[in-house]
Amino acid sequence: MAPTPVHFFSHGSTMMLGEESESADYWKRCGDEALRRGVKGVIMMGAHWDAEGDRIEVATNPDPKKSPVAYVHPDKYRNYKLNPDLTTAERCIKMLRTQGFNVDGNPSFDWIHDTYLILIRMFPHGCPPTVLISMNARFDPHFHMKVGATLRPLRHDGYLLIGSGGAVHNLYRNRWAPMLRYLDNFAMETPPEGWALEFRQSVEDALTQNSGPRLRRAMTRLMKHPQFRDAHATDDHFMAGLFVAGAAGDPEDEGTFATLEAETWELTNMCNSQFTIGTWA
Ligand SMILES: [Fe+2]
Repeated sequence: MAPTPVHFFSHGSTMMLGEESESADYWKRCGDEALRRGVKGVIMMGAHWDAEGDRIEVATNPDPKKSPVAYVHPDKYRNYKLNPDLTTAERCIKMLRTQGFNVDGNPSFDWIHDTYLILIRMFPHGCPPTVLISMNARFDPHFHMKVGATLRPLRHDGYLLIGSGGAVHNLYRNRWAPMLRYLDNFAMETPPEGWALEFRQSVEDALTQNSGPRLRRAMTRLMKHPQFRDAHATDDHFMAGLFVAGAAGDPEDEGTFATLEAETWELTNMCNSQFTIGTWA
């Protein structure tokens, strides 16, 4: 079959789970469309789980719990049933090992909001079979791109590949006061700062103006952008974008450009841009 689309989602703060936003509406539309097209399952790399040394891990806990989240009423997530796909997890492990990755299943990993926030918003009426892939804590962009490239064939098999990270995501430079004082994560007493606007634009340009292997080069190059460290105090939320570039940056993907489908600024300086590369055939 024709390859499925790939999403690079910016999950933002935990409050994106409980509050309504343009991004949340878009996630739901993506979920509805995936179900309508008979999606076989979801393969996701989030920004909150990394393995040390040269390793990566695949979630194989048959009954994962959810790490609790702050600033969200537990009713929004407590009873949502996660649906780990252990068969496809083993398939992913085999594919990754074949490409030389040092990878194992992790049978005790509990899921974190970077992934279940997106799943709940996309699929509020039931989680499709899902495989979570960890990052590697060295945060090498080429390494994470290769993880995406390795799992890319699953797109031909009806699986939806998602990277859940952030376009501009620096917790140290967010303005937290309105969220902490008034539970308002969308308050913006001033415009976003220049470095945030600049890097946000560069992410949009890299994703929407490049396709195929050029997309992979553009996304890895962004980590050398003068404002990268301002926009990402840590590399973790950008790795999901590299995973996506790997999954959607094959020569076969040439001519298929990402589109920016929704965007939600939070905490003044955090830009939650939602990109999709490709469409359901
Ligand atoms: Fe996060």
